Amino acid sequence: MDRHMILIGFMGAGKTTVGRCLSSRMSRELLDMDEMIESEAGMTISRIFETSGEEAFRRIESEVLKKLAEWKEPAVISTGGGAPLREENRKLLSAMGTVVYLQVLPETVLVRLSGDTARPLLQGDGREEKVRQLLVSRDPIYRQAAHMTVKTDGRSPEEIAGEILKGDMKR
Ligand code: S3P
Repeated sequence: MDRHMILIGFMGAGKTTVGRCLSSRMSRELLDMDEMIESEAGMTISRIFETSGEEAFRRIESEVLKKLAEWKEPAVISTGGGAPLREENRKLLSAMGTVVYLQVLPETVLVRLSGDTARPLLQGDGREEKVRQLLVSRDPIYRQAAHMTVKTDGRSPEEIAGEILKGDMKR
């Protein structure tokens, strides 16, 4: 069986946008973990956080990942920004295919997500501080989880997808 192409990285790194691009260039289906979580739970991610809290969300996230691991057709998978936080998830992701870390600077995240209301971890005051702190703590985890790291700041989704495809051929 061929391997999946899996995108990990912080909120606003472009996992879904680059995923769409890869999906069309590779002629593979795009599977979006956040969308699958919402349809599994029958509510939005914000609502899951609101009614059941982050831990409950993380449990559903791990469940969805286990289901994805059974997916037979090679696909492009766009993960949620927190998916690689659990070690069990990192192990699973790594066994599922090529894991690509889309790296992004806090400044870019703040611009891309300005006005966003769909990400519970970034709501409320002090958004800039939240983004910086979370990114600093997560960057080493993303690197550790990935087979390949690609910088995304100031680059188009097409350019990033091209670099990923070139890098994947060398693996
Ligand atoms: C999260 C990222 C979000 C979503 C949830 C939690 C995180 O996905 O799964 O809000 O912990 O980084 P995106 O990375 O697609 O925004």
